[in-house]
Amino acid sequence: MALAVLEDVHFTYAYAESPALNGITLTLERGLLHGIVGLNSSGKTTLCGLLRGIVPNFHNGDLTGRTTILDRDLADWDSGELATTIGCVFDNPFTQISGIRDTVFEEIAFGLENLGVPREEIIDRVIGVVEQLGIAALADKNPNELSGGQRQKVAFASIIAMDSDVVVIDEPTSQLDPEASEAVFGIIAGLKERGKSIVLVEHKVDLLAEYADTMTVLHEGRVALTGGTREVLSDPRLRSFGVAPPEVTELAERLAQAGRPLSRIPVTRAEAVELIDERMREERAHGH
Ligand SMILES: Nc1ncnc2c1ncn2[C@@H]1O[C@H](COP(=O)(O)OP(=O)(O)OP(=O)(O)O)[C@@H](O)[C@H]1O
Ligand SMILES: [Mg+2]
Repeated sequence: MALAVLEDVHFTYAYAESPALNGITLTLERGLLHGIVGLNSSGKTTLCGLLRGIVPNFHNGDLTGRTTILDRDLADWDSGELATTIGCVFDNPFTQISGIRDTVFEEIAFGLENLGVPREEIIDRVIGVVEQLGIAALADKNPNELSGGQRQKVAFASIIAMDSDVVVIDEPTSQLDPEASEAVFGIIAGLKERGKSIVLVEHKVDLLAEYADTMTVLHEGRVALTGGTREVLSDPRLRSFGVAPPEVTELAERLAQAGRPLSRIPVTRAEAVELIDERMREERAHGH
Protein backbone atom coordinates (compact mmCIF):
# COMPACT_ATOMS: atom_id res chain seq x y z
CA MET A 1 0.00 0.00 0.00
CA ALA A 2 1.42 3.35 -1.04
CA LEU A 3 1.29 6.43 1.15
CA ALA A 4 -0.14 8.46 -1.71
CA VAL A 5 -0.92 7.97 -5.36
CA LEU A 6 -1.71 11.04 -7.45
CA GLU A 7 -2.91 10.70 -11.02
CA ASP A 8 -3.09 13.77 -13.21
CA VAL A 9 -4.08 16.02 -10.31
CA HIS A 10 -4.98 19.62 -11.11
CA PHE A 11 -5.92 22.16 -8.48
CA THR A 12 -6.77 25.82 -9.01
CA TYR A 13 -7.47 28.00 -5.95
CA ALA A 14 -10.76 29.88 -6.11
CA TYR A 15 -10.28 33.16 -8.00
CA ALA A 16 -6.70 32.23 -9.03
CA GLU A 17 -5.82 32.68 -12.68
CA SER A 18 -3.52 29.70 -13.06
CA PRO A 19 -3.49 26.24 -11.49
CA ALA A 20 -1.28 25.64 -8.42
CA LEU A 21 -1.07 21.94 -9.32
CA ASN A 22 -1.06 21.40 -13.04
CA GLY A 23 -1.15 17.68 -13.80
CA ILE A 24 0.71 15.95 -10.96
CA THR A 25 1.27 12.23 -11.33
CA LEU A 26 3.29 10.87 -8.45
CA THR A 27 3.49 7.82 -6.19
CA LEU A 28 4.93 8.15 -2.69
CA GLU A 29 5.71 4.81 -1.02
CA ARG A 30 5.31 4.17 2.69
CA GLY A 31 8.21 4.03 5.14
CA LEU A 32 10.39 6.40 3.15
CA LEU A 33 11.47 10.01 3.46
CA HIS A 34 10.35 11.91 0.39
CA GLY A 35 12.05 15.26 -0.25
CA ILE A 36 10.11 17.89 -2.21
CA VAL A 37 11.94 20.86 -3.70
CA GLY A 38 11.22 23.59 -6.23
CA LEU A 39 11.11 27.34 -6.73
CA ASN A 40 8.71 29.61 -4.87
CA SER A 41 5.10 29.13 -6.01
CA SER A 42 5.89 25.81 -7.69
CA GLY A 43 3.10 24.09 -5.70
CA LYS A 44 4.96 22.47 -2.78
CA THR A 45 2.70 23.75 0.00
CA THR A 46 -0.40 23.06 -2.08
CA LEU A 47 0.78 19.45 -2.53
CA CYS A 48 1.21 19.18 1.27
CA GLY A 49 -2.29 20.61 1.68
CA LEU A 50 -3.69 17.97 -0.64
CA LEU A 51 -2.00 15.16 1.33
CA ARG A 52 -3.49 16.41 4.58
CA GLY A 53 -6.90 17.03 3.08
CA ILE A 54 -7.09 20.81 3.53
CA VAL A 55 -7.04 21.13 -0.25
CA PRO A 56 -9.88 21.20 -1.23
CA ASN A 57 -11.75 21.00 2.11
CA PHE A 58 -10.44 24.19 3.64
CA HIS A 59 -9.01 26.00 0.61
CA ASN A 60 -11.76 26.25 -1.96
CA GLY A 61 -10.96 25.61 -5.55
CA ASP A 62 -11.28 23.25 -8.42
CA LEU A 63 -9.71 19.81 -7.93
CA THR A 64 -9.56 17.19 -10.68
CA GLY A 65 -7.70 13.92 -11.16
CA ARG A 66 -7.33 11.12 -8.65
CA THR A 67 -5.74 11.29 -5.21
CA THR A 68 -5.47 8.14 -3.11
CA ILE A 69 -4.12 8.34 0.44
CA LEU A 70 -3.26 4.99 2.09
CA ASP A 71 -5.40 3.10 -0.41
CA ARG A 72 -8.46 5.25 0.10
CA ASP A 73 -9.74 7.93 -2.25
CA LEU A 74 -9.23 11.39 -0.75
CA ALA A 75 -12.97 12.10 -1.03
CA ASP A 76 -13.73 9.04 1.13
CA TRP A 77 -11.59 10.22 4.07
CA ASP A 78 -13.26 11.82 7.04
CA SER A 79 -11.31 15.06 7.57
CA GLY A 80 -10.94 14.45 11.32
CA GLU A 81 -9.60 10.97 10.71
CA LEU A 82 -7.17 12.24 8.09
CA ALA A 83 -5.94 14.93 10.51
CA THR A 84 -5.08 12.30 13.13
CA THR A 85 -3.49 9.93 10.59
CA ILE A 86 -1.25 12.60 9.12
CA GLY A 87 0.87 14.69 11.49
CA CYS A 88 2.05 18.06 10.23
CA VAL A 89 4.83 20.52 11.01
CA PHE A 90 5.08 23.83 9.18
CA ASP A 91 7.55 26.51 8.34
CA ASN A 92 6.67 29.07 10.94
CA PRO A 93 7.50 27.89 14.47
CA PHE A 94 5.57 30.86 15.85
CA THR A 95 2.24 29.67 14.46
CA GLN A 96 2.82 26.04 15.51
CA ILE A 97 1.95 26.65 19.11
CA SER A 98 -1.75 26.60 19.96
CA GLY A 99 -1.36 29.70 22.15
CA ILE A 100 -3.98 28.44 24.58
CA ARG A 101 -1.78 26.30 26.82
CA ASP A 102 0.38 27.65 29.64
CA THR A 103 3.16 25.08 29.58
CA VAL A 104 5.09 23.08 27.00
CA PHE A 105 3.86 19.92 28.74
CA GLU A 106 0.20 20.91 28.27
CA GLU A 107 0.93 22.02 24.70
CA ILE A 108 2.26 18.57 23.77
CA ALA A 109 -0.63 16.92 25.62
CA PHE A 110 -3.16 19.01 23.66
CA GLY A 111 -3.19 16.84 20.52
CA LEU A 112 -3.51 13.65 22.59
CA GLU A 113 -6.47 15.07 24.50
CA ASN A 114 -8.16 15.72 21.16
CA LEU A 115 -7.56 12.08 20.25
CA GLY A 116 -9.25 11.00 23.47
CA VAL A 117 -6.16 9.30 24.91
CA PRO A 118 -6.60 8.51 28.65
CA ARG A 119 -4.91 10.98 31.06
CA GLU A 120 -2.42 8.47 32.51
CA GLU A 121 -1.23 7.50 29.06
CA ILE A 122 -0.98 11.14 27.98
CA ILE A 123 1.37 11.84 30.88
CA ASP A 124 3.55 8.82 30.06
CA ARG A 125 3.75 9.70 26.39
CA VAL A 126 4.59 13.37 26.98
CA ILE A 127 7.31 12.50 29.49
CA GLY A 128 8.72 9.96 27.04
CA VAL A 129 8.83 12.36 24.14
CA VAL A 130 10.34 15.35 25.98
CA GLU A 131 13.12 13.07 27.23
CA GLN A 132 13.66 11.65 23.77
CA LEU A 133 14.02 15.13 22.23
CA GLY A 134 16.12 16.52 25.08
CA ILE A 135 13.55 19.19 25.99
CA ALA A 136 12.52 17.93 29.45
CA ALA A 137 13.92 21.16 30.92
CA LEU A 138 11.37 23.13 28.87
CA ALA A 139 8.33 21.17 30.04
CA ASP A 140 7.20 23.75 32.61
CA LYS A 141 7.98 26.80 30.48
CA ASN A 142 5.41 28.94 28.75
CA PRO A 143 5.42 28.00 25.03
CA ASN A 144 5.27 31.69 24.13
CA GLU A 145 8.68 32.28 25.71
CA LEU A 146 10.58 29.76 23.57
CA SER A 147 13.02 30.44 20.74
CA GLY A 148 12.14 29.41 17.18
CA GLY A 149 14.25 26.26 17.39
CA GLN A 150 12.70 25.28 20.72
CA ARG A 151 9.19 25.84 19.35
CA GLN A 152 9.95 23.69 16.36
CA LYS A 153 11.09 20.91 18.72
CA VAL A 154 7.83 21.23 20.65
CA ALA A 155 5.90 20.95 17.36
CA PHE A 156 7.78 17.74 16.56
CA ALA A 157 7.23 16.49 20.12
CA SER A 158 3.48 16.88 19.60
CA ILE A 159 3.40 14.74 16.45
CA ILE A 160 5.79 12.15 17.90
CA ALA A 161 3.51 11.89 20.95
CA MET A 162 0.51 11.40 18.64
CA ASP A 163 2.47 8.66 16.88
CA SER A 164 1.08 9.50 13.43
CA ASP A 165 2.22 7.04 10.76
CA VAL A 166 2.61 9.76 8.21
CA VAL A 167 4.28 13.11 8.78
CA VAL A 168 4.07 16.04 6.36
CA ILE A 169 6.67 18.71 7.05
CA ASP A 170 6.75 22.00 5.13
CA GLU A 171 10.06 23.90 5.34
CA PRO A 172 10.62 23.25 9.06
CA THR A 173 14.02 24.96 9.14
CA SER A 174 13.32 28.05 7.04
CA GLN A 175 13.37 30.31 10.12
CA LEU A 176 16.09 28.47 12.04
CA ASP A 177 19.86 28.94 12.32
CA PRO A 178 22.16 26.15 11.03
CA GLU A 179 22.53 24.53 14.45
CA ALA A 180 18.78 24.39 15.11
CA SER A 181 18.27 23.14 11.52
CA GLU A 182 20.66 20.23 12.14
CA ALA A 183 18.76 19.42 15.34
CA VAL A 184 15.46 19.36 13.45
CA PHE A 185 16.95 17.10 10.79
CA GLY A 186 18.15 14.81 13.59
CA ILE A 187 14.56 14.54 14.83
CA ILE A 188 13.33 13.83 11.30
CA ALA A 189 15.98 11.11 10.91
CA GLY A 190 14.67 9.59 14.16
CA LEU A 191 11.11 9.54 12.77
CA LYS A 192 12.42 7.80 9.67
CA GLU A 193 14.21 5.16 11.76
CA ARG A 194 10.90 4.44 13.45
CA GLY A 195 9.41 3.56 10.08
CA LYS A 196 7.30 6.69 9.60
CA SER A 197 6.43 7.83 6.11
CA ILE A 198 7.66 11.38 5.71
CA VAL A 199 7.04 14.08 3.13
CA LEU A 200 9.52 16.90 3.62
CA VAL A 201 9.54 20.19 1.74
CA GLU A 202 12.96 21.74 2.26
CA HIS A 203 15.19 24.21 0.43
CA LYS A 204 18.37 22.93 2.11
CA VAL A 205 19.34 20.40 -0.53
CA ASP A 206 22.58 19.49 1.30
CA LEU A 207 20.55 18.21 4.23
CA LEU A 208 18.02 16.42 1.99
CA ALA A 209 20.93 14.69 0.24
CA GLU A 210 21.89 13.11 3.58
CA TYR A 211 18.43 11.97 4.66
CA ALA A 212 15.93 11.68 1.78
CA ASP A 213 15.23 8.38 0.02
CA THR A 214 13.47 10.00 -2.92
CA MET A 215 13.30 13.51 -4.28
CA THR A 216 10.69 15.26 -6.35
CA VAL A 217 11.28 18.58 -8.06
CA LEU A 218 8.16 20.63 -8.69
CA HIS A 219 8.13 23.30 -11.37
CA GLU A 220 5.09 25.42 -12.20
CA GLY A 221 2.73 22.91 -10.62
CA ARG A 222 4.19 19.92 -12.43
CA VAL A 223 6.60 17.14 -11.49
CA ALA A 224 9.81 18.14 -13.26
CA LEU A 225 11.96 15.33 -11.84
CA THR A 226 11.28 12.46 -9.46
CA GLY A 227 13.26 9.41 -8.40
CA GLY A 228 15.97 8.26 -6.02
CA THR A 229 17.78 11.11 -4.24
CA ARG A 230 21.12 10.43 -5.94
CA GLU A 231 19.56 10.18 -9.36
CA VAL A 232 17.61 13.45 -9.02
CA LEU A 233 20.44 15.45 -7.43
CA SER A 234 22.93 14.45 -10.10
CA ASP A 235 20.49 15.11 -12.95
CA PRO A 236 21.98 17.74 -15.30
CA ARG A 237 18.53 19.35 -15.67
CA LEU A 238 18.24 20.12 -11.94
CA ARG A 239 19.48 23.73 -12.21
CA SER A 240 17.09 24.51 -15.04
CA PHE A 241 14.24 24.05 -12.52
CA GLY A 242 15.83 26.53 -10.13
CA VAL A 243 17.32 23.96 -7.76
CA ALA A 244 21.05 24.06 -7.00
CA PRO A 245 22.76 20.70 -6.41
CA PRO A 246 24.46 20.00 -3.06
CA GLU A 247 27.77 21.82 -2.46
CA VAL A 248 29.77 18.62 -2.78
CA THR A 249 28.14 17.82 -6.12
CA GLU A 250 29.13 21.29 -7.40
CA LEU A 251 32.66 20.75 -6.11
CA ALA A 252 32.89 17.49 -8.08
CA GLU A 253 31.71 19.32 -11.21
CA ARG A 254 34.45 21.92 -10.77
CA LEU A 255 37.08 19.21 -10.28
CA ALA A 256 35.92 17.51 -13.48
CA GLN A 257 36.16 20.81 -15.37
CA ALA A 258 39.71 21.18 -14.04
CA GLY A 259 40.59 17.79 -15.51
CA ARG A 260 40.50 15.94 -12.17
CA PRO A 261 37.17 14.06 -12.27
CA LEU A 262 36.06 11.89 -9.38
CA SER A 263 35.08 8.30 -10.19
CA ARG A 264 31.39 9.11 -9.59
CA ILE A 265 29.27 12.10 -8.62
CA PRO A 266 28.98 12.53 -4.84
CA VAL A 267 25.81 13.92 -3.25
CA THR A 268 26.68 13.50 0.44
CA ARG A 269 29.68 14.79 2.37
CA ALA A 270 30.86 11.35 3.41
CA GLU A 271 30.85 10.21 -0.18
CA ALA A 272 32.74 13.29 -1.34
CA VAL A 273 35.45 12.74 1.28
CA GLU A 274 35.83 9.13 0.19
CA LEU A 275 35.99 9.98 -3.54
CA ILE A 276 38.44 12.86 -3.05
CA ASP A 277 40.68 10.58 -0.96
CA GLU A 278 40.57 8.01 -3.73
CA ARG A 279 41.44 10.67 -6.33
CA MET A 280 44.38 11.95 -4.26
CA ARG A 281 45.77 8.43 -3.79
CA GLU A 282 45.59 7.87 -7.56
CA GLU A 283 47.30 11.17 -8.30
CA ARG A 284 50.09 10.35 -5.87
CA ALA A 285 50.50 6.88 -7.38
CA HIS A 286 50.86 8.48 -10.81
CA GLY A 287 53.41 10.96 -9.49
CA HIS A 288 51.35 14.17 -9.95
N1 LIG B 1 -4.55 30.21 -0.37
C1 LIG B 1 -4.26 30.50 -1.64
N2 LIG B 1 -5.15 31.14 -2.43
C2 LIG B 1 -4.87 31.42 -3.72
N3 LIG B 1 -3.72 31.09 -4.35
C3 LIG B 1 -2.80 30.45 -3.62
C4 LIG B 1 -3.01 30.11 -2.23
N4 LIG B 1 -1.91 29.47 -1.76
C5 LIG B 1 -1.06 29.40 -2.81
N5 LIG B 1 -1.58 29.97 -3.92
C6 LIG B 1 -0.94 30.06 -5.25
O1 LIG B 1 -0.72 28.72 -5.70
C7 LIG B 1 0.56 28.61 -6.34
C8 LIG B 1 1.40 27.55 -5.62
O2 LIG B 1 1.69 28.05 -4.31
P1 LIG B 1 2.35 27.15 -3.18
O3 LIG B 1 2.21 27.93 -1.93
O4 LIG B 1 1.80 25.79 -3.23
O5 LIG B 1 3.87 27.13 -3.67
P2 LIG B 1 5.20 26.75 -2.87
O6 LIG B 1 6.00 25.92 -3.81
O7 LIG B 1 4.87 26.20 -1.54
O8 LIG B 1 5.92 28.16 -2.72
P3 LIG B 1 6.92 28.69 -1.56
O9 LIG B 1 8.29 28.14 -1.88
O10 LIG B 1 6.87 30.17 -1.70
O11 LIG B 1 6.41 28.21 -0.23
C9 LIG B 1 1.17 30.01 -6.31
O12 LIG B 1 0.91 30.62 -7.54
C10 LIG B 1 0.41 30.70 -5.20
O13 LIG B 1 0.32 32.07 -5.44
MG1 LIG C 1 5.30 26.76 0.43
